[in-house]
Amino acid sequence: MVPIKTPEELAKMRQGGRILRQILNYLQAKTQPGVSRKQINKLAGRLIKSKNAKPSFLNYQDYPANLCIFTNQEVEHGLPGNKIIQDGDLVTYDLGIYYLGLHTDASVSFICGQPSPEKQAIIKVCQECLQQGIKQARVGRRVGDIGAAIQKHAEKNGYSVVRQLIGHGVGKEIHEPPNIPNYGQTGTGEKLKKGMCLAIEPMINQGGHEIKLLKDGWTYVTKDGKLSCHFEHTVAVAKKRAQILTKI
Ligand code: MF3
Ligand code: CO
Repeated sequence: MVPIKTPEELAKMRQGGRILRQILNYLQAKTQPGVSRKQINKLAGRLIKSKNAKPSFLNYQDYPANLCIFTNQEVEHGLPGNKIIQDGDLVTYDLGIYYLGLHTDASVSFICGQPSPEKQAIIKVCQECLQQGIKQARVGRRVGDIGAAIQKHAEKNGYSVVRQLIGHGVGKEIHEPPNIPNYGQTGTGEKLKKGMCLAIEPMINQGGHEIKLLKDGWTYVTKDGKLSCHFEHTVAVAKKRAQILTKI
């Protein structure tokens, strides 16, 4: 069963989502070439605490950090570790917070320092994929409509869509039903109802869609070593346009 949120729960998730976005914005502003992932992880921990929230990912299936930090050919779940963020890196921060009894989940990708056309291009298309997916998150559409819209936009622009990692419902748990693949067929899957909350999170690759897991047990990278990009919003399904709970 896909949980339906009450208006009170939605109001709480909107508050949580606003805090989450403030934190992501702050972390992005603090990301200069030479900063370590560990420093960003620490800063995130302090900010989350100062807002009376909790990091959703810490200890989730033994995940050891406040947020996921990954760059360039890394696809998801990168560990803060000791790595230094370099000038020109395509950086993603993926953060979930628990606030007033509910989770929200979002990510941002950006270039640290000197931009390059190929990195700017994948960021732009990935953002558009997220918007295309969100457009489908309305009453009467189906989960497959979201994935199909994302896949179509990515492939039209020459990118591939990661298959192994997917979006999800979000609320009392960080991962709730339904699963939301970033690929699929229109008119298939669960019917969307008002008050469902979804974490829509396209992951698109410059090369092939295949990914592999590194020995650290968490970090996924592209098999061909080409760039990957990720954006995520938590949204609430509504009659017309979905409400974005983690608005920028
Ligand atoms: N946004 C990612 C997801 O929903 C974050 C993973 S959380 C982790 O899958 F704890 F597993 F890293
Ligand atoms: Co997520």
